[in-house]
Amino acid sequence: MSRVPTILVFDSGLGGLTVFREIVKLRPGARYTYVADDAYFPYGQHTEDEIVARVVPLVGDLIAEHTPDLVVIACNTASTLVMTHLREAYTVPFVGTVPAIKPACASSRTKRVSVLGTKGTVKREYTKKLIADFAQGCDVTLVGAENLASLAEAALRGERVSDDAIAAEIAPCFLNGDARTDTVVLACTHYPLLIDQMLALAPWGVDWIDPAPAIARRVGDLLGPANGNGAGPEARFLFTSGQAPSPVLARALEPFIRASVAN
Ligand code: DGL
Repeated sequence: MSRVPTILVFDSGLGGLTVFREIVKLRPGARYTYVADDAYFPYGQHTEDEIVARVVPLVGDLIAEHTPDLVVIACNTASTLVMTHLREAYTVPFVGTVPAIKPACASSRTKRVSVLGTKGTVKREYTKKLIADFAQGCDVTLVGAENLASLAEAALRGERVSDDAIAAEIAPCFLNGDARTDTVVLACTHYPLLIDQMLALAPWGVDWIDPAPAIARRVGDLLGPANGNGAGPEARFLFTSGQAPSPVLARALEPFIRASVAN
């Protein structure tokens, strides 16, 4: 029986669950601490300086408290800013989540790709550099969604989210000229929570690129063979607001562990 690794998964809210479930699939025997910085959600509405000043010390406190073997920053809005700061400040291995522009551009046939992220993520120098380095001749459109992350949280809490609200947020991704958009990068970990609605509301079929499985593989590579006793994941969910999840949310969290293990 190998040692049980502790993995800390961090996001501004519940979007990181879409990364968390992929990691659990690969490493069902690990011990997980999922931290949602709901007291500061949504990160997409904060300035770059505010996010760095918030996330770097907060992650330091979490490392001191939970002594993880590895930390996943399951948030594009934060990862596109803080990874260098975190690696300079703390010795634990980090895995970030940044827009999957390289694989999207590599697989696009029409050479027209959209990147759907928060207003913050699409403005970042980091994102622009990914496009400069990896567009591979594609025409890349950056789409900053105003409320999509909040809509995803509302849906997970069991609230009704209107089709019109989702359709309006994704509409700018679809360009139809000489070439049609055929690939959309989900550059916010919240968006895969709405994938069924987005598939239904898209004006035409595209490939939606969710990097979560690739992030999970990176976590697996860094952890090496340590995989716990295989008895099933041990997970706890912490909220920086200090609030316990409502009964509806608590029920919504369960399948993220169960479904991952069943797969
Ligand atoms: N889940 C976060 C991301 O991947 C963003 C949500 C927010 O605005 O806080 O970018």
